[in-house]
Amino acid sequence: MKGVVLAGGTGSRLFPLTKITNKHLLPIYDKPMIYYPIETLAEAGIREVLVVTGGRNAGDFLRLLANGKEFGLKQINYAYQEGEGGIAEALALAEHFAEDEPICVILGDNLIQGSISQAVRDFEAQKVGAKILLKEVPDASRFGVAELAGDRIVGIEEKPEHPKTNLAVTGMYMYDSTVFEKCRHLTPSRRGELEITDVNNAYIREGTMSFNYLDGWWTDAGTFDSLRRATNLVAETRAGAAQQ
Ligand code: G1P
Repeated sequence: MKGVVLAGGTGSRLFPLTKITNKHLLPIYDKPMIYYPIETLAEAGIREVLVVTGGRNAGDFLRLLANGKEFGLKQINYAYQEGEGGIAEALALAEHFAEDEPICVILGDNLIQGSISQAVRDFEAQKVGAKILLKEVPDASRFGVAELAGDRIVGIEEKPEHPKTNLAVTGMYMYDSTVFEKCRHLTPSRRGELEITDVNNAYIREGTMSFNYLDGWWTDAGTFDSLRRATNLVAETRAGAAQQ
């Protein structure tokens, strides 16, 4: 499976930290933010990665990541998102790279403690449709929130005021090659963006969406509080590992 890291956007919730650089280049403890999602993909055995970015700092990604050797990758590819049209607009730029293969997509500000390896293997066996990773959180209204009926996922609401469950849809998604056709049918949401949640709901309507629960901690890093939380979690995990 190929990997796609989405690292565009304005990072407006982190202004002025993002006034002169891209959110995904900000530090999380001892590394730039984007290192973590790339490491997550590499650890799951993914060797070809596309980084989708945009804005004025796109060249910095090339200087930072080069050809991906440091991460054990075969190659890093780059795509440039011209607009600020949302996650699904960025994802649509991966069509050429994907070449009809399934892809594992990760948001560039998503950090995890554990591994997505099992989910990647499960999706390779599933072959068609999509898979998402769910995590119980105390503040579900900040995220896409999954609704379940038994062990089936029946819908996702994007940042609901009154979430039906405490199951956040994390920023890690696996898709078959029909994802690009689904992206073409999207219309902008209230925040003026093409939403990844609408892509996921299209798979749910089709009956081909599965999910795994994610083990270990998970955080995004797109707000001041979550940026600080991400740094603390990485530092604590590192300190814990050093003690063992
Ligand atoms: C995005 C998605 C949301 C998901 C979250 C995970 O939100 O729209 O469904 O739960 O990433 O990090 P955003 O960070 O764009 O607000």
